[in-house]
Amino acid sequence: SVERTLSIIKPDAVAKNVIGDIYSRFEKNGLRIVAAKMQHLSQEQAEGFYAEHKERGFFPDLVAFMTSGPVIVQVLEGENAVKKHRDLMGATNPKEADKGTIRADFAESIDANAVHGSDSAQSAEREIAYFFNDSEICPRD
Ligand code: CMP
Repeated sequence: SVERTLSIIKPDAVAKNVIGDIYSRFEKNGLRIVAAKMQHLSQEQAEGFYAEHKERGFFPDLVAFMTSGPVIVQVLEGENAVKKHRDLMGATNPKEADKGTIRADFAESIDANAVHGSDSAQSAEREIAYFFNDSEICPRD
């Protein structure tokens, strides 16, 4: 079924100037960008977005990294968008990511891992609402 998922191009990938390459992977694989913005996240925004991880040891590094430079946040729409996007990203740890995935090609470490994607339709709903109002999402045919 047609789903939406939240995607973030992280500070490392923005700094590498590979936004367009990542967008073309989405588009070539049947995902449409239906909302997008560039933003330098505040500490509060990053902490709130990743609240489910706040007890984890890596949380301070995660928040520091995500606020280290601008990100691009987008909503992707398409058939099985959540899984399709996760397949395109590859494993969280780039050392374990399959060849040809975004993380295998662009990520340096588990922290600087180029992209984020919602892990389920349910978290997609929360994550999309965290960044976008309904009026900022532009569904297309
Ligand atoms: P992301 O999909 O954005 O969700 C949480 C992020 O925490 C994850 O990608 C990684 O960049 C980062 N992270 C750092 N260490 C770990 C870890 N041990 N397990 C999961 N995520 C981690």
